[in-house]
Amino acid sequence: MIRVALTGALGRMGAVMRRELRRQEDMQLVVAVSHRLPGLELTEEDRQSLQGVRLVTALDEVDAGGLDVVLDFSTPEAALEYAAYAGGHRLPMVLGTTGFSPAQLDELAERLAAVPCLVTPNMSLMMNIVFRMVANATVVLADYDVDVEITERHHRGKRNAPSDTALKLAQIVAEKRHWPFPEVVCGSRWGRSGARPEKEIGIQCVRGGDIFSEHQVCFAGLGERIEIVHRAHSLSSYARGAVKALRWIVRQPPGVYDLLDMLGLSEVLY
Ligand SMILES: NC(=O)c1ccc[n+]([C@@H]2O[C@H](COP(=O)([O-])OP(=O)(O)OC[C@H]3O[C@@H](n4cnc5c(N)ncnc54)[C@H](OP(=O)(O)O)[C@@H]3O)[C@@H](O)[C@H]2O)c1
Repeated sequence: MIRVALTGALGRMGAVMRRELRRQEDMQLVVAVSHRLPGLELTEEDRQSLQGVRLVTALDEVDAGGLDVVLDFSTPEAALEYAAYAGGHRLPMVLGTTGFSPAQLDELAERLAAVPCLVTPNMSLMMNIVFRMVANATVVLADYDVDVEITERHHRGKRNAPSDTALKLAQIVAEKRHWPFPEVVCGSRWGRSGARPEKEIGIQCVRGGDIFSEHQVCFAGLGERIEIVHRAHSLSSYARGAVKALRWIVRQPPGVYDLLDMLGLSEVLY
């Protein structure tokens, strides 16, 4: 049985994770951490999904001996605190939180140096297949005079722009083209005149209503184009990926991994 502590437990992803974890026969949610306690009124659904789960305000209140892994969907600042606990108590960790600055990512790696941890901007298995498709298309089209443009769409409440997933897509293209990243990324062409520079990857961010996460990568060539689109229909695609990540990370040696490592896609093809 894999005993899980969930941080950011009362957030949107936290709610979906609580439901998904209950469906797993080999996993048990033993601790749920919410920084909004006490004083928070739980919904009936919250109460049901937290039955038999210890609900705490801080991970420090918990004896790490009763845990096998920490799963985090919170904020970068909070995730760093939770990572200090996981690293300090030698617990593997899976992080779905996005929006880390480069300095925060370095800090995260330092805090988790002694344990296996999986960090990914996108827990969806299908999105990770798109990462690989984009890498392969970039390599095959290297000398084909093709511009790459990325469009991401999200709900109005999303905190960071561009999404980490869009940035990862741009990073993949830049790496395969041996271009400096993030210098080649263009976030806005407002007010700019003249032709599109060749050495550029555009990212457009759309925010509105309750749009579910959508990422499109357009390889715009001459006389033709390819558009690779991933649309998430619900948060369950991330929850299902996170469950697989938990099962995988507890068997890994210390190190920093992402979902492509878990899928065995980090080195295939190109
Ligand atoms: N990798 C992926 O595939 C993926 C998919 C979806 C979302 N995400 C990312 O996961 C994160 C959470 O997303 P969400 O949609 O669940 O957001 P959300 O509903 O806003 O939940 C975020 C949660 O973070 C916790 N939090 C906020 N401020 C905090 C603080 N000062 N100290 C401690 N905890 C704090 C809160 O949980 P408590 O009140 O329970 O502490 C809050 O509910 C975001 O970074 C999002 O981009 C990643």
